[in-house]
Amino acid sequence: MVAGERRISIVVASENEGTQAAEIAVHWQEEEYYHAPPSFVEQANLKDPQIFERYSIEHFPDYYKEFGEMLDWYKPWDTLLDSSNPPFWRWFVGGELNASFNCVDRHLDACKNKAALYFVPEPEKEPIIALTYQELSVQVNELAAYFRDGLNLKRGDRVTIHMPMVLELAVTMLACARLGVIHSVVFGGFSAQACADRMVDSDSSVLVTMDGYWRDGKWLDHKEKADETVRAAGKAGHAVRAVLIFERYPGEYRSSFGLVENRDIIVNDILSQYTGERVEPEHMAADDTLFLMYTSGSTGKPKAAQHSTGGYLSYVTAMSKWILDIKPTDVYWCMADIGWITGHSFIVYGPLALGASSIIYEGVPSCPDAGRPWRVAKRLGVNIFHTSPTAIRSLRKLGPEEPAKYDYDFKLMVTVGEPIEPDVWRWYYNTVGKGNVAIVDTWWQTENGGFLCSTVPALAPMKPGSTGPGVPGIHPVIYDEDGNVVPPKSGKGGNICIRNPWPGLMMGIWGDPDRYIATYYQRYCKDPESKDWQDWPYFAGDGAMQAPDGYYRILGRIDDVINVAGHRLGTKEIESAVLEVKGVAEAAVIAAADAIKGVIPEIYVTLQPGVAPSDQLQRSVVDIIVRDIGPIARPRKVWLVPDLPKTRSGKIMRRVLASISNQKDPGDITSLANPEIVEAIRRTVSE
Ligand code: WT7
Repeated sequence: MVAGERRISIVVASENEGTQAAEIAVHWQEEEYYHAPPSFVEQANLKDPQIFERYSIEHFPDYYKEFGEMLDWYKPWDTLLDSSNPPFWRWFVGGELNASFNCVDRHLDACKNKAALYFVPEPEKEPIIALTYQELSVQVNELAAYFRDGLNLKRGDRVTIHMPMVLELAVTMLACARLGVIHSVVFGGFSAQACADRMVDSDSSVLVTMDGYWRDGKWLDHKEKADETVRAAGKAGHAVRAVLIFERYPGEYRSSFGLVENRDIIVNDILSQYTGERVEPEHMAADDTLFLMYTSGSTGKPKAAQHSTGGYLSYVTAMSKWILDIKPTDVYWCMADIGWITGHSFIVYGPLALGASSIIYEGVPSCPDAGRPWRVAKRLGVNIFHTSPTAIRSLRKLGPEEPAKYDYDFKLMVTVGEPIEPDVWRWYYNTVGKGNVAIVDTWWQTENGGFLCSTVPALAPMKPGSTGPGVPGIHPVIYDEDGNVVPPKSGKGGNICIRNPWPGLMMGIWGDPDRYIATYYQRYCKDPESKDWQDWPYFAGDGAMQAPDGYYRILGRIDDVINVAGHRLGTKEIESAVLEVKGVAEAAVIAAADAIKGVIPEIYVTLQPGVAPSDQLQRSVVDIIVRDIGPIARPRKVWLVPDLPKTRSGKIMRRVLASISNQKDPGDITSLANPEIVEAIRRTVSE
């Protein structure tokens, strides 16, 4: 089990057991609107102001036809939505298609010689590789031929992919999709144990990996993890029959871990036997599984969201077109890792389905310095840029003036993954976007396939710190703890749910239908016997409020909420207040156990470069919290620390901080990007 972000929840939730506050206090002030520049609006893919009428709930599910029509089908669907067995929705029933055909073959006539994917190696002296649609097609076909003829892989089989951010990762996914083989990509930074757990759970006997890769200036020998994965899977009684190794430098095996006979295969060598081979894409049913994506839940075992072929692909295509405004002429860079859902949907499937050029960057954004992303943007002519608040905060911390040095030109920028503080949003807009850009703050989850809330960039203004209304077709609702609907646009907090099913929603949790129902539907389904989709709101597990203008603000995971003396305080609200203090770079709040109040917040703060820690600064942090949130949120301690523990995807691990504050064992910290910081913080705290 990987120590995922969601485990925080256990720490906080169990400490709060029995305390269910009815409302989430909301203290962020409403921000001013920003408008997309006219140059953006003129060229936008979606500027039809009638869209929300056409996509009103009365027209559900018919409007989703338009999503399906964005793809090429071998056989049209007969039933748009079969909702006869809630909550197991089936979309485009009877339809047949292939995801690899839609992302590769269908572009060959019009643009076979344009870049489908760019590979930007982390070492800046290495050349950037542009992989054309033609060349992508050749590589996908040859690899699929090897999978089929050399490994006897067939539709429905599972293949686990544990790779860094390289072209071969996308090629492998598309080769699987071509054959109807279900891919399960495990984030490359995850441990061998995590990879083994996922292989066991998905019953996959083939592992695709790479000898090594560059990360933050260091060569990481990745093959070692494959050996350990096989060993760990073996301990669990699961046999891995083949380990396929791509070479980061083709022709040069650079791992110091040797090859195991009859198990390990250098893919670059074997592919020469398949030169020029073509593989007819399998005609997949719309609701055949395209891939599995694991995510941590609030219980120990990782769970795999099982995504469909037709529903998922149509959903990410529509979202890429309408919300990301991707056109075939665009150069699009999403800095997420393909090992997460963002990378699946918005590096690989969405942009390629639209025939755009999408960038795969191997390393960390700040390597060798905080100017790197802006140099890449300039060099490749990136005009759509997609990243997370964490990355934005860290780029701001390391190089607040860097973007000004490079004359790239973004038309649209994306933020995803956590609520973004208005102050951070404004730096993104003014400094990275140069004040001349549309921004979308997209709220969604691994389980959802694509966006749930966001502004439509040409149609609605942006509001820092708020995601926006439901995207066309998505109808959110907020419930209180007792299952009553919180009045719309009331500014009152509660649990956000989605009233209607949508094509991008996972089909279920792999091998665990009960857990799917229990996690996402049980809470607010009033009649488990009901066959009416309207009785089955999807429970997202996030706190949210809706402002009078209809925009939602996400307050974080419900289980991340801190309950102080019966008042629920959104951790994000407290943190955003702290970020207003001059000199503060990052802040994380955790719930520390308190004999009288149950829990009480403690704040961990990092400072901007050149700012010295001082008692005065600590006092300012306390003062601003009391001012912005109220005395109820007054922190017990403000710890000024050199860095915060983060996952490799950049999420702050509040669970680890909470365990330090509460003098508990932090548990498994091996999946952190910076495990060494834990001891340093502990020393600060125990001094
Ligand atoms: C959780 C899902 C989906 C991509 C990455 C994360 C939080 C996500 C936002 C946003 C506020 C956000 C939610 C959600 N979240 N996007 N724009 N504003 N919060 O996927 O690991 O499945 O996490 O991330 O809490 O439930 P994930």
